[in-house]
Amino acid sequence: MLLLKPTLVSLAFTATAWARREWKNSPDSPAWPSSEDWLALNRSIGGHLIKTAPVASSCYPGNPFNSPENCSDVTDKWSYAAYHSAWPESIDYPIYTNNSCVPKDSTGYSKEKGCNVDGLPRYIVNATIEAHIATAMNWASQRNIRIVVKGTGHDLNGRSTGANALSIWTHNFKHTKHVRRWNVPGRNETADVLICGSGNNWGSAYSAAHKSNRAVVGGEDPTVGLGGLIQNGGHGFLSSHYGLASDQVYQVTLITTDGKRLVANDMQNQDLFWAVRGGGGGQYGVVTEFVLKTHPIPQSVAKGSLSFWAAESTNASEKASWDALSDMVASIPEIMDDGLNGNITAYTKTRAMALGLSKAPVGVAAVVGLVGLNMSASQMDAAVHKLAAKITDLNHDQHSHLNVSYQSATDQSYWSFVKPEPLTSNSAGAVSLMTSRLMGRRELSDIPRSDLKTYLQRALVSENPDSGTMLLFGLQGGRGPADVPSNMRGSVVPAWRSAYAHVFTLGASINATGDASESLKAGASWYEAVKEPVWRDWAPNTGAYMNEGNPFSSTWKKDFYGVNYDKLLTIKRKYDPSESLFVWSGVGSDLWNNDLNTGLLCRVTPEN
Ligand SMILES: Cc1cc2nc3c(=O)[nH]c(=O)nc-3n(C[C@H](O)[C@H](O)[C@H](O)COP(=O)(O)OP(=O)(O)OC[C@H]3O[C@@H](n4cnc5c(N)ncnc54)[C@H](O)[C@@H]3O)c2cc1C
Ligand SMILES: *[C@@H]1O[C@H](CO)[C@@H](O)[C@H](O)[C@H]1NC(C)=O
Ligand SMILES: *[C@@H]1O[C@H](CO)[C@@H](O)[C@H](O)[C@H]1NC(C)=O
Ligand SMILES: *[C@@H]1O[C@H](CO)[C@@H](O)[C@H](O)[C@H]1NC(C)=O
Ligand SMILES: *[C@@H]1O[C@H](CO)[C@@H](O)[C@H](O)[C@H]1NC(C)=O
Ligand SMILES: *[C@@H]1O[C@H](CO)[C@@H](O)[C@H](O)[C@H]1NC(C)=O
Ligand SMILES: *[C@@H]1O[C@H](CO)[C@@H](O)[C@H](O)[C@H]1NC(C)=O
Ligand SMILES: *[C@@H]1O[C@H](CO)[C@@H](O)[C@H](O)[C@H]1NC(C)=O
Ligand SMILES: *[C@@H]1O[C@H](CO)[C@@H](O)[C@H](O)[C@H]1NC(C)=O
Ligand SMILES: *[C@@H]1O[C@H](CO)[C@@H](O)[C@H](O)[C@H]1NC(C)=O
Ligand SMILES: *[C@@H]1O[C@H](CO)[C@@H](O)[C@H](O)[C@H]1NC(C)=O
Repeated sequence: MLLLKPTLVSLAFTATAWARREWKNSPDSPAWPSSEDWLALNRSIGGHLIKTAPVASSCYPGNPFNSPENCSDVTDKWSYAAYHSAWPESIDYPIYTNNSCVPKDSTGYSKEKGCNVDGLPRYIVNATIEAHIATAMNWASQRNIRIVVKGTGHDLNGRSTGANALSIWTHNFKHTKHVRRWNVPGRNETADVLICGSGNNWGSAYSAAHKSNRAVVGGEDPTVGLGGLIQNGGHGFLSSHYGLASDQVYQVTLITTDGKRLVANDMQNQDLFWAVRGGGGGQYGVVTEFVLKTHPIPQSVAKGSLSFWAAESTNASEKASWDALSDMVASIPEIMDDGLNGNITAYTKTRAMALGLSKAPVGVAAVVGLVGLNMSASQMDAAVHKLAAKITDLNHDQHSHLNVSYQSATDQSYWSFVKPEPLTSNSAGAVSLMTSRLMGRRELSDIPRSDLKTYLQRALVSENPDSGTMLLFGLQGGRGPADVPSNMRGSVVPAWRSAYAHVFTLGASINATGDASESLKAGASWYEAVKEPVWRDWAPNTGAYMNEGNPFSSTWKKDFYGVNYDKLLTIKRKYDPSESLFVWSGVGSDLWNNDLNTGLLCRVTPEN
């Protein structure tokens, strides 16, 4: 039992401690490698080492880091998620780089700050073969340097970046191969699979599968990468039917921080295989390849939608809108058991003008967007009308107080529906911090409607009362995840097996131009005081989806990992004994303090 205070430990072990380092090195540490050492690393990986040069450097006088891209291009494309994927160092949400180098007037920009690399990885491995990753990680872990992994950089909580780290960029692992009869290790069976390099995004994986007339379970947005989505669970258009993305994996190939290449499946490295199927990206090693189950392409996809809001600025209308939302939400299990997925998005105050209203309505407004696989437009129309009837007829004389609008349903081919259009997602370059929960039948349908309404009202509170906020139910659970056979289930938080919806909300007013660390802390404490208690009252025993959740929640271990936490921690320690890989809310991350302000990653004594 180690009872020393961290400061004493660090003094005692400064020069010699290898087994238990108290911090990760930074360029200020005496042990930081010299430029000659870095050159030697570069030579040993065929010249694939990049010294970090922020792409927005061209927006600062003299282009201090020699960005090859001109500033007007950077500024124009900064809000596109796909743009950040294309650059070795760039991530979607720069607050997690301490806003180290953002274009003028974009979120997080402040004049005093200038452009630097203090909040970014110092070097990046532009890996094209596994040996680059193995050599570089072994080198860095022996030198007590933090390692981070970037696929696309889409992570909503900055888990693909890190100050003073060596970053492994998987972008160029883009191979795909369809195999109709792949022998599943350890089972006397073959499977139709798509073998994918981890640097693919869902757009390229869908395209490859489609060429063989198959579909794979991935994200809704084609610019999202395989690496982070699969390892944290992963939902999309097909998940309510076939289970999560992490439920489709037959094998992964992974490089550990000590440079070993491991194939993990049902016959070898089973513990690791289990961990990477839902137990977190960027924690156990770098996945270079996934073997994914494929499915038949749905013959058609029908889309339908309806929206509703308060008809008048009266108390009766306000009440009608909340009642309608509650009725709609209570219907989620039934809708999904009928084969529908999609989402229900609720807005308050000025955010509700997103519905195209000329002024903010009272109460809550919502858009219900439904998707039906193998469904015709007329079947979808019938489903939408059935739902509309629930909110207009069930409750007394709701309909005079509620305005409801339908769009007639359409159907189209699966391919035209998922067709990758990379420049559609433009939510990047902003601040990102949300909070979420997985909700099952018990939380949605089996509670008194009045309780449900109260929870929804509490969950839709916003820190700035005038601006309102949003809350989204993603209808991505249901029978798919529930019916996944046990031999395909990894370590994803078990709440997914009984969840119908993944609900997330925003609402904290985060000061984008303030000190990043302080701003995130303030946002997190507002969520902790206002929103997390709602989930804890409403759904005390479910869990939350790690990719779209609040990593700073005081109950993150239970929320994101549930009963799997301790086992995952053991596996993490086995495969990353040097603790080179740290991510926020990763297993064992409470043993470290990742300080955006100093850029230092130091060991702390956990509170419990
Ligand atoms: C525009 C947008 C749309 C989204 N849509 C969906 C959606 O439809 N469904 C859904 O489930 N989620 C969605 N998300 C959330 C998404 O799942 C997360 O952002 C996820 O982190 C993305 O993974 P990535 O590999 O693309 O991103 P990165 O930021 O590159 O990586 C995310 C995490 O995974 C780790 N990682 C990545 N690759 C590897 C690897 N090869 N080996 C080891 N670790 C790795 C990183 O270290 C990091 O911790 C969306 C996010 C955005 C920004
Ligand atoms: C690594 O070597 C390549 C090829 O010589 C060179 O282009 C690159 O700049 C080097 N990287 C670093 C960090 O020195
Ligand atoms: C920036 O580069 C693009 C080509 O990538 C070019 O079309 C544009 O004129 C350049 N803008 C400036 C201001 O140099
Ligand atoms: C990464 O390596 C590939 C393959 O060698 C090369 O085409 C690409 O330009 C490199 N990217 C960067 C940013 O250096
Ligand atoms: C494997 O499965 C096939 C048919 O599914 C069967 O004929 C064969 O006996 C099985 N082999 C073993 C070793 O179980
Ligand atoms: C859709 O229909 C096709 C053809 O009948 C079938 O192969 C596929 O499994 C169905 N998909 C879904 C999601 O129902
Ligand atoms: C509700 O619908 C009625 C009838 O179309 C319309 O007059 C009224 O302006 C609408 N109310 C709102 C708030 O949109
Ligand atoms: C509407 O509700 C508010 C408080 O919620 C109350 O003060 C007001 O009297 C109500 N108005 C009417 C007309 O009932
Ligand atoms: C919600 O559904 C709408 C309509 O189908 C769709 O355009 C949107 O992308 C969905 N949003 C999310 C976050 O899934
Ligand atoms: C945000 O932080 C900056 C820097 O600390 C401060 O000047 C500014 O007043 C803050 N803005 C708000 C809205 O709190
Ligand atoms: C982070 O930004 C703050 C100012 O907002 C600055 O004082 C601090 O030095 C920066 N730290 C790093 C590591 O970039």
